[in-house]
Amino acid sequence: MLTPSRQALTYFPDARSYRMGISTRELVQIIMSNQIHTPVMLERCIELLSPALAQEGAIVVDATLGMGGHSEALLERFPLLTLVGIDRDTDALGIAGDRLARFGDRVHLAHAVYDEVGRVLADLGIAEINGILFDLGVSSLQLDRVERGFSYSKDAPLDMRMDATSERTAATILATYSEGELRRIFYDYGDEKLAPRFASRIVQRRDEHPLTTSAELVELISAATPAAAQRAGHPAKRVFQALRIEVNQELAVLERAIPAALEALAIGGRIVVMSYQSLEDRIVKRALQSRSVSTAPAGLPVELPEHRPEFALLVRGAELASDEEKLANPRSAPVRLRAAERLRRVA
Ligand SMILES: C[S@@+](CC[C@H](N)C(=O)[O-])C[C@H]1O[C@@H](n2cnc3c(N)ncnc32)[C@H](O)[C@@H]1O
Repeated sequence: MLTPSRQALTYFPDARSYRMGISTRELVQIIMSNQIHTPVMLERCIELLSPALAQEGAIVVDATLGMGGHSEALLERFPLLTLVGIDRDTDALGIAGDRLARFGDRVHLAHAVYDEVGRVLADLGIAEINGILFDLGVSSLQLDRVERGFSYSKDAPLDMRMDATSERTAATILATYSEGELRRIFYDYGDEKLAPRFASRIVQRRDEHPLTTSAELVELISAATPAAAQRAGHPAKRVFQALRIEVNQELAVLERAIPAALEALAIGGRIVVMSYQSLEDRIVKRALQSRSVSTAPAGLPVELPEHRPEFALLVRGAELASDEEKLANPRSAPVRLRAAERLRRVA
C-alpha cells in the first residue's frame, strides 16, 4: 500500500486529505501509466536548466508539478538540488508527494496557483532560485479522470476545475455569463467562428433547463453547427478549450506568473516554459522577449552597463519536440518550448 510521505511534504503536510476520491488501486494505475508516458521534452529541459542547477545549494521550482515526472528526473540528475513543487490540483500534489517521498527534505510541495510563486518562496524563507520550469496545461491525470469534465468525448458534470477546491465551474459560467461574455470567451480562447451562434443557443437553452453535463453541451453545439463546418474537427473541441481557460483563468494567471518567476531568478538562473497552445505561447514569448532586449536609446554608440538586457533568450524562437518524440509521445506534438537566463538584476 502506498503511504504518504511526512518527510517530503514539509510545506504541504497532509497528502492524504488531497487524495480524496482516488482509490489506492486507481492511484497505482495512474502512476504506472505515467511511467509509460515520459514527461515532455525531458532531456531538453534538463539540458537547458543544467548550468544553473549543478551547484551546491541550487533551488529549482517546478511550477506545474503534475505527477512529478520532470521533478523526479531533476532530483535524480542533480543530487544537491532542492525542489519546490507547485500545483493547484490537490490530487496531483498527493500523487507527486508519494512519488518524490524518497527525496526527503530536498522536496517542498505547495498547493498554490503558480502566479503565487513569490509568496510560496517567501513562506519557505527562499530569497532567490536558480531555475524554474513551467509545463503548462492539463495533465494526463486530469484528462483521464472523467468526472473532472475536461473531455468533450466523455459524459461528465461540466466542471473543468484544475483546483477542485475553487468555486467557478464550467456549469456556473454557462448558467451565469451573459450572451456577450460567452461569445467573447468562445472567440478569444477558442478561436471559434461560430461563437455568436453557440452563445445565443446556450442562453436560449438555459432558460428552459440549465446545462449540467458535457453530453448536453456537446449535443447543443453539434446541433448548432452547420454540416459544412462539422468537417473542421469536432465542433465542441474549441468551446471546451475556451471554457477550461475561463474556469481556471489560465491566461490571466500566466500573464502574472512569468514576471513573478523572472523576479525570483538569481543571476545565472534559468527559466524553461512549455506551452501547448498559441495563446499561452504568445504570453510567454512577449514576457521573455521584452526583458531580453537592450534598453539603450537608439543611436547611442556604446551600450552602457545599465542598458544591458536583464535576460538572454536561450533558444531561437520556440523549440518543438523532435519527430521521434512526437511519434513516441503524442502529448508532445503541440509543444512550444522557450527559455531564458538572467544576466543581471536591475536595481
Ligand atoms: C502538464 S501537467 C505537468 C506534468 C508534469 N510536468 C509531470 O511531469 O508530471 C500541468 C500541471 O500544472 C498544473 N497547473 C496548471 N495551471 C496551473 C496554475 N495556474 N497554477 C498551479 N498549477 C497549475 C495542473 O494542475 C497540472 O497538474
